[in-house]
Amino acid sequence: MSENISYLSGRKDLHENLFERISRMAETEDTANTEKIQELARDYLVGESTIYSTLSFYDLLRPENKNKKAYVCNGSACMCSGTQSRVRSELKKHFRDEEIGEMTCLGRCHENGAFQYNGQNYSGIAIDNITQIIESKKTIQEKYASLASGTAILMQTPLTAEEFALQLRNLFTLNPEHVLDEIKKSDLRGRGGAGFPMGLKLESVRKAEGERKFIVCNADEGDPGAYSDRYLMEQQPLRVLLGMIIAAYISSADTGIIYIRAEYPESMETIEKSIRELEENSLLGNDILGSGFSFTLKLIKAKGAYVCGEETALLSSIEGQRPEVRVRPPFPARKGLFNMPTLVNSVETLANLPFIVEHGGSKFNSIGSSQSKGTKLISLDSFFNRPGVYEVEMGTPLATVVEQLGGGFKENVKALHIGGPLGGLVPVSDISSLQISFESFAEKGILLGHGSIVSIPEDFPMMGYIKHLFRFTVHESCGKCFPCRLGSVRGLELLQRATDGDYRIDRELFTDLLDTMQQGSLCMLGGGLPLPVKNALQYFDNELRDHFD
Ligand SMILES: Cc1cc2nc3c(=O)[nH]c(=O)nc-3n(C[C@H](O)[C@H](O)[C@H](O)COP(=O)(O)O)c2cc1C
Ligand code: SF4
Repeated sequence: MSENISYLSGRKDLHENLFERISRMAETEDTANTEKIQELARDYLVGESTIYSTLSFYDLLRPENKNKKAYVCNGSACMCSGTQSRVRSELKKHFRDEEIGEMTCLGRCHENGAFQYNGQNYSGIAIDNITQIIESKKTIQEKYASLASGTAILMQTPLTAEEFALQLRNLFTLNPEHVLDEIKKSDLRGRGGAGFPMGLKLESVRKAEGERKFIVCNADEGDPGAYSDRYLMEQQPLRVLLGMIIAAYISSADTGIIYIRAEYPESMETIEKSIRELEENSLLGNDILGSGFSFTLKLIKAKGAYVCGEETALLSSIEGQRPEVRVRPPFPARKGLFNMPTLVNSVETLANLPFIVEHGGSKFNSIGSSQSKGTKLISLDSFFNRPGVYEVEMGTPLATVVEQLGGGFKENVKALHIGGPLGGLVPVSDISSLQISFESFAEKGILLGHGSIVSIPEDFPMMGYIKHLFRFTVHESCGKCFPCRLGSVRGLELLQRATDGDYRIDRELFTDLLDTMQQGSLCMLGGGLPLPVKNALQYFDNELRDHFD
């Protein structure tokens, strides 16, 4: 990343955002329109290569995706459910092959068979109604369970604008220092993957010096299998936005950005509507409710790149730079968006703040396990009898989630892939040894991540699954560091050769490759892929050994 480009991009305010200008240009112009690229580069005083490298990065801005009419979900859960080829063949009755693309993942893991048509997502039985969908714009409601098994922190009755105003009024009677102390007391840890203490991050942003400060809500939930942030944005939008305002009030930020992934059109629609509602009720803007506190919110619509969920790539994306992961330090809390102090938190982390402000940090802290406080949302896929998003108190046994909430499996499952593509593979025989908490997963050397659960059925080849993980990393790697950029390609080549013929992979070479990626990658995309692959080699040796020397 370039600090200069961050500065230059920030010269124009967010309503003239460079990323949005580039996106609009790609949608209306030929991607390689040199004249337009030069014009934009001149306007922002950046090099043409800056514009071109952004333009060529995102799935949805690429020329080959311009004339796509429909996209099939190629996420892990849809793959394991075996629905993709049927969805594609049904779509082919209406569209030419080159008009059908792929997206990862549409967050419809609870019923699979997922596809996007005309900017709307569909799943389950929708593909059987594709003719009506195309001809009469028929809408088909998705169905999934959403239930809190213990204390409901995130799954309370959704806030209305009146309740939102009431909570804001209460917030403004409190000293920001006091609110920060309550959050520190709560021991809330980040829900986006790393589990970093929220209070510490907020305190750093509060103390950091800058002309202005930003709150960025990371709504790029790209982990195949996860749809809990989607649930929050679509069913609890005001709770998420209130969380952003609370964070801004503590850290004196004047602007919030919610960056939502392209694959979630319904989330964008709901959040856009909610922001408008708050603006119309003067609950955003200057001097909110006469408090002297001013705050605006902006929605940025992403364009399809998993790596933008990594917080520094996310900031580069908003700035209109190629979203490559940045070397840290400096951390975003000190030097983030447009080089200003920035708080980046996941949707779920921020959505916890209204509860803490309303009930106090000690109440939140009294729920959960020794090192993980509060609750966690868990997404269950369609192999469960009751797929859906469940809110469970931290420390809840995984077996309770699988058996009691999910109602067990519909068919034989051999492993669970928990916490996204970089999370661990857990053989079903190990379910009883895990609880939903950071420490329980860490003891096993795996990650809780976003709390997504993808089931791998008995008859799905493990070789196919690890190839899928490598292919995902090849596609999503930002290319900044060699271990990930080259390692993922070499790994995929080895696995492909071994499945195509009688080639046997040198086990030592493959282990070296995984160790190099694990130890040498700059971020957890390249650094995290080896974990589930090593788990597969350990637990499913009987399936894989024929492919290795
Ligand atoms: C490849 C990659 C993808 C990520 N995707 C997400 C994401 O979609 N949502 C998210 O909140 N965090 C994601 N993260 C973690 C973020 O970098 C960051 O830790 C998080 O947004 C911080 O918020 P939290 O403290 O609330 O967890 C990702 C990290 C990596 C390495
Ligand atoms: S590990 Fe991959 S995604 Fe992360 S910085 Fe390196 S190349 Fe980019």
